[in-house]
Amino acid sequence: MCLLLCTCLGIQAQHKSGDMDRFIDDLMSRMTLEEKIGQLNLPVTGEIVTGQAQSSDIAGKITRGEVGGLFNLKGVGRIRDVQKLAIEKSRLGIPLIFGMDVIHGYETIFPIPLGMSCTWDMKAVEESARIGATEASADGISWTFSPMLDISRDPRWGRVSEGNGEDPYLAAEIARAMIRGYQGTDMSGNDEIMACMKHFALYGAPDAGRDYNTVDMSRNRMFNEYMLPYQAAVEAGVGSVMASFNEIDGLPASGNKWLLTDVLRTQWGFDGFVVSDFTGISEMVDHGMGDLQTVSALALNAGMDMDMVSNGFLGTLKQSIEEGKVSVETLDQACRRILEAKYKLGLFEDPYKYCDLTRPARQIFTPEHRQVARRIASESFVLLKNKDNLLPLQKKGTVTVVGPLANTRSNMPGTWSVAARLDDYPSVIEGMKEVLGNQVNVVYAKGSNLISDAAYEQRATMFGRSLHRDNRSNEELLREALVTAAQADVIVAALGESSEMTGESSSRTHLDLPDVQRHLLEELLKTGKPVVLVLFTGRPLTLTWEEEHVPAILNVWFGGSEAAYAIADVLFGDVNPSGKLTATFPKNVGQIPLYYNHKNTGRPLEEGKWFEKFRTSYLDVDNDPLYPFGYGLSYTSFDYSDIRLSSPVMSPGDDLQVTVTVTNTGKRDGAEVVQLYLRDLVGSITRPVKELKGFDKVVLQAGESREVTFRINTEMLKFYNYDLEFVYEPGEFDVMIGGNSRDLKKARFTLTH
Ligand code: NOJ
Repeated sequence: MCLLLCTCLGIQAQHKSGDMDRFIDDLMSRMTLEEKIGQLNLPVTGEIVTGQAQSSDIAGKITRGEVGGLFNLKGVGRIRDVQKLAIEKSRLGIPLIFGMDVIHGYETIFPIPLGMSCTWDMKAVEESARIGATEASADGISWTFSPMLDISRDPRWGRVSEGNGEDPYLAAEIARAMIRGYQGTDMSGNDEIMACMKHFALYGAPDAGRDYNTVDMSRNRMFNEYMLPYQAAVEAGVGSVMASFNEIDGLPASGNKWLLTDVLRTQWGFDGFVVSDFTGISEMVDHGMGDLQTVSALALNAGMDMDMVSNGFLGTLKQSIEEGKVSVETLDQACRRILEAKYKLGLFEDPYKYCDLTRPARQIFTPEHRQVARRIASESFVLLKNKDNLLPLQKKGTVTVVGPLANTRSNMPGTWSVAARLDDYPSVIEGMKEVLGNQVNVVYAKGSNLISDAAYEQRATMFGRSLHRDNRSNEELLREALVTAAQADVIVAALGESSEMTGESSSRTHLDLPDVQRHLLEELLKTGKPVVLVLFTGRPLTLTWEEEHVPAILNVWFGGSEAAYAIADVLFGDVNPSGKLTATFPKNVGQIPLYYNHKNTGRPLEEGKWFEKFRTSYLDVDNDPLYPFGYGLSYTSFDYSDIRLSSPVMSPGDDLQVTVTVTNTGKRDGAEVVQLYLRDLVGSITRPVKELKGFDKVVLQAGESREVTFRINTEMLKFYNYDLEFVYEPGEFDVMIGGNSRDLKKARFTLTH
C-alpha cells in the first residue's frame, strides 16, 4: 500500500526538503488524530528486557496505527513480518522504524565504549560504528540508541562503561566519528542507520554515583564541562536524541522545555526527533510532576516527540488535546519529525529496505569484521604497570591462567551487547590456546568465584552472563589454583569485574577487586612466580594495593567478541599496547570525583605535596590519582622535546603553531597518543588547570623521531563566561604537551586584544 502511495505521488527518494515536505503534508492531511498520536508511540517488543515494562498486544496496536516503531527485536525475518503487518494491515501503511541498543557492535562486538575511547583512534571508532551499522541493518535494524555521550567523573556510576570518559573534547570527537560511522553520508544507503545521541542531558553526574539519581549543577559547569559532546553530535547531523532520566534544575529532562527546545533546537539547531528513555515520561509521576496525563502533556509541550514504553502519549494525548492542554499543532510537529526521520531513512520509498533476508549470512559476524574487532580490542587495552618489562611474555614454557574471568565466554563482550552471540566468543584460555598453538602450555584453574557473597554475584551476572558459580569452598578453589600454579613459569590472573557489574543500574560504592579475588591474587604473589594481572573492568577501579604489589597490570576492559585473541596478541608481544586512560583512576573511593581538568581553587596544594594545613587536601591521602587521565604504558618508551612555539604572541584570528619532537627511545615500534592541553591563566571566571584541546596518535618505529605540530586558534580558547556567552579572552595561556595529563612539557603564549 505504501509503495503504491509513493508511486502514485511520484515520490523519489531524494532528500530534498521540498519533496519531503510535500509528501508529509499530503500524508498528514489524511491521518486521523489517533494515527498521529500512534506515530509517537514506541513500545518495546518484550523479547529483550531492558527495563521494567513489557508491552502486550503489539500486533493489534500496529494494525490500528498506534505504533511508530519498535525496539530490541532481533532477526530480519521477524522484523520483516512485523513491518509487513504495518504496511499491509494498517490503514495508511506507514512503515515502522526498528531501533536497538547497538552500542559497541552487533554480533561482532567491539570494546565497551569506555575501552574504545582509550584507543584515541577516531578511524577505529568510526570503523566500529560502521561495522555495527552494517551488521544491524543487515538484520533489519534502522535506528541505534547510540552514541552515549554522558561525561562522567564518578566511577561509582555503573554507566561510565557506556561513555567516553571524563573529557568533553575527546567525547565530542568520538561523537562525530560514531555518527559518521552509523549514518554514513545521509542515511540513504541500506547499510546506513539513524543514530541517537543520549542521554540528554547530564545523566553521567548523578549524586553519589547512584543510577537515576538527582543531578544538580550550575549552567556554567554544564556548558563548559558537560554539553560539548551533545552539541557536537547535533552539529554532526545526528538524526535523533534521547532524553535522560534525571532532572535538571529541578525539572526532569523528559519534561524540560528549556533543555529539549530552547537549548537543543533554538540554540543548537537540532531538527531531528527526540525520544524519551525507557518509561522516562511515566517516571515523571514518581518524580512528583503529576499524573500520567499531566506528565505526558508536559513532555510533549517541552519538545519530546516519541514516548518509549510509557504509553503516556498513546493513552492520554487525545484527552489533553480535547481539554486544551496540548495543541494539535504541537502534536503535528512531533508527528512530522518522526515521519521525516522515516522519510530520510528511505522507508517510505522501500519499507523493506533493511529486510533483505540474504544479507545476514553475508554481512554479520564475518571473518573480516572479526579481524577488525580483534585489532581494535588490542588498541583499547591500557598497560597500567610493567615492572622490569615482565611483559611481553615469551612464547614458551607453561603459563597458568587463573581466575573467575579466565574461562567464561558470555562475559567477554561486556555490558550492553544485546545482539551478542554469548556462547560463540572464545574465553581467555580458549583464545590464548588458539593463538599460541603448542608453543606454550596453557593450563587453567578457576581459583575463586567472582565474589564470596553468592547473592551479590547473582546480581552482577544477570542477562545470561552467568559465571557458573562453583560450589566448592573458597579454600578448595584456592588450593587447586596454587597446585596448578606450582608448575607455571608465569601466572596470568584474569580478575576484576563481571560484565554486568557495570552498565545500567550497576553502581558500586567499593571499587576494589572483589574480596575473594584479592585474596587469590595475594596468594598467587606469595608463590614468588611472576604474576600478570589481566584486569577486566567497566570502570576505573581503586588499585592502590595492586599497583604496589603486582609486577604487571594490563587493563583489558571488556574488549568484545575477539577480546581473547587480542589479549593473547598483547600479552605475548604480537601487538604493542597503546591505549591511554580516558578516566582518572583514583587511589580510593573517598577521592571521587577526581578528574584532571579541575579548578585551581583559592588554596591549591603545591605540586608534589601530600598535605598542608589550610590548603585543599586530605589528612589521609594525597590529592593525586593512582593513574591520571591520558596515562598508559607501552612496551617501548617515548621522549618529548621541549615545546617550540611559532610565536610567543598570538593575535585574534591568527593561528599559533606548537611543535614537539617525539622520539621512540625503546627497542620496539609503538604508537603514542600525543596530547595537547591548554590553560587560560586569568579569566573573567575561574578556569580549569588544564583542558585537552588536541591529540595525535603517532606510530613510531624503534629509534624514530617525529615532529608533531598542533595549530592553536581562538576557537580553541573559547569558553562560556558568566553570562554564558561563548568567548575568548586576551591574556596569557599555558600550552602543555605530553603522553598523559600529568607529565607534560610546558610553554606560554599571550593572546593580544
Ligand atoms: C534504558 C537506557 O537508559 C537507554 O540507554 C536505552 O537505550 C534504553 N533503555 C532502551 O533499551
